[in-house]
Amino acid sequence: MDIDESFIQSIEHRPKSTTVEVEGIPVIDLSALNSQDLVVQVGDACKNWGFFQVINHWVPSNCREKVELASRAFFQQPSSEKRKVRRDEANPMGFYDTEHTKNVRDWKQVFDFTVENPTVVPASHEPDDVELQEIVSQWPEYPPNFREACEEYAREIEKLAYKLLELISLSLGLPAEKFNGFFKNQTSFMRLNYYPICPIPHLALGVGRHKDSGALTVLAQDDVGGLEVKRKSDGEWVQVRPTPNAYIINVGDVIQVWSNDKYESVEHRVMVNSERERFSIPFFFNPSHKVMVEPLKELTSKQNPARYKPYNWGKFHTTRNISNFKKLNVENIQI
Ligand code: SIN
Ligand code: FE2
Repeated sequence: MDIDESFIQSIEHRPKSTTVEVEGIPVIDLSALNSQDLVVQVGDACKNWGFFQVINHWVPSNCREKVELASRAFFQQPSSEKRKVRRDEANPMGFYDTEHTKNVRDWKQVFDFTVENPTVVPASHEPDDVELQEIVSQWPEYPPNFREACEEYAREIEKLAYKLLELISLSLGLPAEKFNGFFKNQTSFMRLNYYPICPIPHLALGVGRHKDSGALTVLAQDDVGGLEVKRKSDGEWVQVRPTPNAYIINVGDVIQVWSNDKYESVEHRVMVNSERERFSIPFFFNPSHKVMVEPLKELTSKQNPARYKPYNWGKFHTTRNISNFKKLNVENIQI
């Protein structure tokens, strides 16, 4: 098979051929919710890893199974069908198969949808344009329960995301609901990821190294594995081994800024596989368009001054999305 060179990672960023057996990211049992222990565990995980897994989280397993099945059914269709709901400049939600991370093509296909409130983007494509336009997801016809499964799942995950946000807030010594106001009219979205079998898993990545730009990510991965996190203590890439029915949580750039670097957004990437395809579903919990992101006053002082200038989340988020749209016109689509 001829592989387009746009998928090939430079030598220093290729996955390792052998993986070291390492201590995994922390697994936190949420059934002890509200206990001080739990807050401490969440705080330690955010500080030391930027990543953790949660179990006993109350997201009904049948709700997750339903969306996982719907996702498989959707992606298993020929590309000609999937492209009927293709993401484009008029519709930033939907299917696409040409995402890049740091200018290298990712070996994956994606379906994105907004959660509760439609994402708004500027009417023109100038990042400075203030006129906003509502965008509504375009839903596929197959499988028939696709939209229902996605929306049901999104409602449950959003509840979990708020609980986690509250724990994080408490762990920073703030009131539980300190961050909640930033998420009214949130720009969060859900992504169904499909990583097809890859004949060159030693040269390509499902998603190249990156940090998440939003507040918090809540990820469901299947049993195949492939997610790697850069361990803060030594910069080593470590695998996040699949834990049945767990969610993987990571702090994004927004929490890094709010916490004035007390918690850091950590690099991660996804390896692909020559034997098994992989599915995952991240929920990107993002603030509302209007929010100015800056270190919280409560977490700065004379000794610890703000390390970031305020930036407007909506402007930042929109500019990033638009730069992705520009990359959609790739002729040679392979996966
Ligand atoms: C991502 O970081 O965007 C994807 C994570 C995954 O598929 O495990
Ligand atoms: Fe990510």
